[in-house]
Order: sequence, then C-alpha cells, then structure tokens
Amino acid sequence: MDPQEALRTLEEELERALGLIAQVRTLDELESVQVSVLGKKSRYTQVQRSLGQLSEQARKDVGRRANEIRSRLDAAFEERRSGLVKEAERALIAADRVDVTLPGRRGRAGSLHPLTIVEYEIVDAFIAMGYRVVEGPEIETDWYNFTALNIPPDHPARTMKDSLYVDIPGMLLRTETSAVQIHAMESQQPPVYVVAPGRVFRRETPDATHSPVFHQIEGLAVDEGITFSDLKGTLEAFARGMFGEEQRVRLVPSYFPFVEPGAEIDVSCFRCGGSGCGLCGNGWIEILGAGMVHPAVLENVGYDAERYTGFAFGLGIERVAMLRYDIPDIRLFYEGEVRFLSQFGRAT
Ligand code: DAH
Repeated sequence: MDPQEALRTLEEELERALGLIAQVRTLDELESVQVSVLGKKSRYTQVQRSLGQLSEQARKDVGRRANEIRSRLDAAFEERRSGLVKEAERALIAADRVDVTLPGRRGRAGSLHPLTIVEYEIVDAFIAMGYRVVEGPEIETDWYNFTALNIPPDHPARTMKDSLYVDIPGMLLRTETSAVQIHAMESQQPPVYVVAPGRVFRRETPDATHSPVFHQIEGLAVDEGITFSDLKGTLEAFARGMFGEEQRVRLVPSYFPFVEPGAEIDVSCFRCGGSGCGLCGNGWIEILGAGMVHPAVLENVGYDAERYTGFAFGLGIERVAMLRYDIPDIRLFYEGEVRFLSQFGRAT
C-alpha cells in the first residue's frame, strides 16, 4: 500500500465510522461497528500493518494520522457508548415509574355466609335470654342419636333409608342436633339452658328443598317448674327478636318421640304480617319443632323427672335463611358461588 492510498483509506474509514456511530441504536450494534472499524480484519488494521513497508518519512506521516484517527474514533465510540447507556437507564426508569397518585387496588373483603349470619342471630337471641352454646360430635352412637332420645328400635328414623351409617358398628352421622341434648344433660345437673348449633346428616337425594347435609339449632331448658307456657313465651320472644316486634307464634300439636306433648311452631308470616301471601299461603310459617322433654329422656340421663321438667326445640337454619332471604333452592348455600354469597352483608 503506498502512502497516498494509506492516508486515503484512513480518511475514508474515519468518515465511514463516524457515520455508522451516529446511526447505531444499541450497545450491541455499537460493538459490531467497533469490530468492523478497528478489528483485526479492518482496513485501519491493514494500514497499520503496512506501515513497516513504508519509507521512514511516510511511516511517520501515515503513523501520526493513524494515531490521530484512532484517538478520534476511540473518543467517538466512548461518547456514543455512554450516551446509549444513559438512554437505556432513562428507558428503564420510565418503564418502572410508579404513579403514586393512582388509587390503590383493594383486596376483596369476604362476607359471612348467609347460614352463619342466621345462625349467629338465632344464637344471639338465646344468649340474650341466658342460654349457653354447646356443641356435640357429628358422629354419634345409637344411644345419643336414638335410644336416649326415646326413639324406639323400630322407629322409621332408624332405618338405613334415613340415616347415614359409618364403618364402625353402631355409629352413624347424627341425624339431628337433638343428640346434643343428651351430652349437655349428661355433663351437668339442672338448671340447663343451652343451644346447640351444628351440622346434621340424612340419606336424602338433593333437590331444591333437601340436602343430605344441613344445619340445625337445638335448644334445651331443664329446671324446676318449667311449663309449656315457658316454651311458648321463650319462642315468642325469640321470634320477635329474630323477625320483628309484631311477630306472633302459634303451636300446632305434633309428635316427636323425645317430647310430650310435642308441637310444631308457626310464626306469623314476616312477609305479609299474617294476612296470607305467596310465601306463607295462610299467614303462618312453620319454623321449628318443640315440646316438653319426655320424662323418659330425663330419666335416661339420670335426672329426677319428678323434680325437673323442661322444654326442647329444634330449628332448621337453612329453612329460616331461605324464608328470610327469599332463596329458592337449598343447594345455593353449598356451591360457594361468590355472586350469591356476596349479597348477604359484610363480615364485621
Ligand atoms: N329433631 C327434630 C328434627 O330434626 C326437631 C325437633 C323437634 C327438635 C322437637 C326438638 C323437639 O328438640 O323438641 O326434625
């Protein structure tokens, strides 16, 4: 390469490199431009390699120019590199920017299940009257679920058709919270004033009004001198607390093995007030079973049935909730559908 050509090549390369440096958009691109302009196979390197073949004077001239160009290029590369790094930092900051004036995203608050709301209200009404909350096991022996409750061995409730038995002989899933009455009386002497909420189990095919698992609240009062009018007065007070001051209560004779006499309790319809509507038909809604505790039951737990009397009642929580909230299908309670559940008020 003669000196003229070498100098021309250097000027061309300088020109070309400055153009390319101005165009690059990324650090990677800048890197490859640097390799092509100054790398081993670059024309700049070729010029340097040819210096040795030049005359001394030419070598000085070309060499000086080559060094000047090298400094220019190094500076140009460095300037562009730091420019690109700053740009990248700015882009990152912009992308990460948090707008502190945006409203926060709130987590959705849960709400109590309608069955829980109704259970709490019923239990609260009885706590206000001096009752205590007790619980019993969901798996029961024949004694607690049937025998002690004066349900004879040939009673239809005992058959495999109605009850759900477990693998352990003589044990079943309790069919009613009445079984908790026996536990409560066994564990203390009168006076007894307890309510027992809980799950019960029956061999049912689910439909709009039946479920194999549902919830009841049992009530039991045993003391000296308890009469049928105490039962009526207590349930009236409960109904007024639960459904409103205007409530009336009606007792209709009925049969349950563990009470005598037994009754079904109707409350005046809380929709129409008792005049009759689509919900109640004749102005009354049946919400619970009740009666005076059968002396045989008191004797089964070792109480003196001459000295003590008592009343008991049992109520279906689903039934009250369906009436109260106008819920057409019992299965809605168990599906966990948030759009259903969120309608019943917030947790407190
Ligand atoms: N255990 C009854 C049922 O599941 C309800 C019941 C009726 C409970 C009368 C009582 C009662 O305590 O006295 O249908």
